Amino acid sequence: MKSVRVTQPLFLSGMMGAGKSTTGRLLAAKIEQPFYDLDTIIEEEEARSIPEIFEEEGESYFRAAEQNLLIKRSQEIKGVMALGGGSLQNQMIVDHLKLTGWLIYLKASASALAKRLESSADRPLLQGRDILQRVETLLDERREFYEQAHITILTDGMDQQKIADEILKKLRMYES
Ligand code: S3P
Repeated sequence: MKSVRVTQPLFLSGMMGAGKSTTGRLLAAKIEQPFYDLDTIIEEEEARSIPEIFEEEGESYFRAAEQNLLIKRSQEIKGVMALGGGSLQNQMIVDHLKLTGWLIYLKASASALAKRLESSADRPLLQGRDILQRVETLLDERREFYEQAHITILTDGMDQQKIADEILKKLRMYES
């Protein structure tokens, strides 16, 4: 597929299990720009894993660190950044990302997400709970923010290559 010159950073949002990191890596390779993963940035900055941060400090500490690093790094990067599933915490963050780059929502049904997350051991928000129910609740809470993205891709039944190509197709229209 013909490449596209992307002039602003791309922020991939969506629930845990939506494929943000895999798609983000593919997308970055396609546009020949760097890839960043916000979860990895937080882990490096904190020098511990996300489960450890939740365990040792609690969720609100994690969210504050996530917000600070996202606001800071989003202004410094060129390329693609995969966000965490809960990164769109408030309207200020959504507005900031939309003014800084393209906000993209990888939308998936609760059942598709739950299926992919069945064996996930590294996501503190899912531990010890009914995964489908938990995913539905989080989706209900987060939908109002996810749905404000510039670009939404319905990912159910699509492979990551196709998802990356769909994003590029839409960007080609917007960036030209
Ligand atoms: C979270 C999603 C995770 C990670 C943390 C919290 C969430 O990222 O940031 O466990 O609140 O949905 P992924 O979406 O990359 O799994």
